[in-house]
Amino acid sequence: MKIAILTGAGVSAESGLGTFRDKNGLWTRYDLNEVATPEGFALNPALVHDFYNARRANCAEASPNAAHVALAQLAETAHDITLITQNVDDLHSRAGSLNVVHMHGELMRALCASCGARWDAPLVMDPSDACPSCGAATTRPDIVWFGEIPYHMDAIAEAVERADLFVAIGTSAEVYPAAGLVELARGQTLEINLEASARANAFDDHLFGPATEVVPSWVAELS
Ligand code: APR
Repeated sequence: MKIAILTGAGVSAESGLGTFRDKNGLWTRYDLNEVATPEGFALNPALVHDFYNARRANCAEASPNAAHVALAQLAETAHDITLITQNVDDLHSRAGSLNVVHMHGELMRALCASCGARWDAPLVMDPSDACPSCGAATTRPDIVWFGEIPYHMDAIAEAVERADLFVAIGTSAEVYPAAGLVELARGQTLEINLEASARANAFDDHLFGPATEVVPSWVAELS
């Protein structure tokens, strides 16, 4: 079976990385306009680097959880899996998933705003860092900010359209275009989440509960 999977912050919550819109979520503690928009970065690059340096440190200290591991194991089965994530952490890859499609970029990657070069980000980035390719002091986290175009959207749309099953795991479905992918699905659709998301009605089936419990049992049934 061709399965397209979209994950959100809920799949990394039990690794201690927290989410954005839950109680005490990231956007309850930071103004996303200041730390997750190109305008915010232009105004105060040091604040933005500090924000992502802290998230990068948390990510480096975190470990993949049973949901990440189960999804990596699913790819070992006869099913044709496309794993798309809104998450910028590297826990899917560290759990063993290959070819993870990071539509919102990656914490562990850096981008030069001048020449477009990309490289593995140092743990701590600073506005004075020079791009290793062009030397300009215009480095930024390789993260897709609000108002920017998510990565790999053509490949993502194609994978969702041709999937026999589209599964959204651990996302509030509040942010587009990710939240709209379920409309492209031509096969069955399944939402796995702690609670009904904003787009729950668009899904055929639902499994509610913590990802570390529900995802491994769902994968076990598929295997
Ligand atoms: N298991 C399963 N689901 C969980 C768990 C858990 N342990 N904990 C929380 N959730 C669910 C919440 O119920 C919520 O629906 O995960 C979802 C997290 O929602 P958000 O915090 O909005 O995260 P996400 O949907 O990934 O946000 C999408 O918004 O801020 C931008 O770019 C950022 O990629 C992010 C995008």
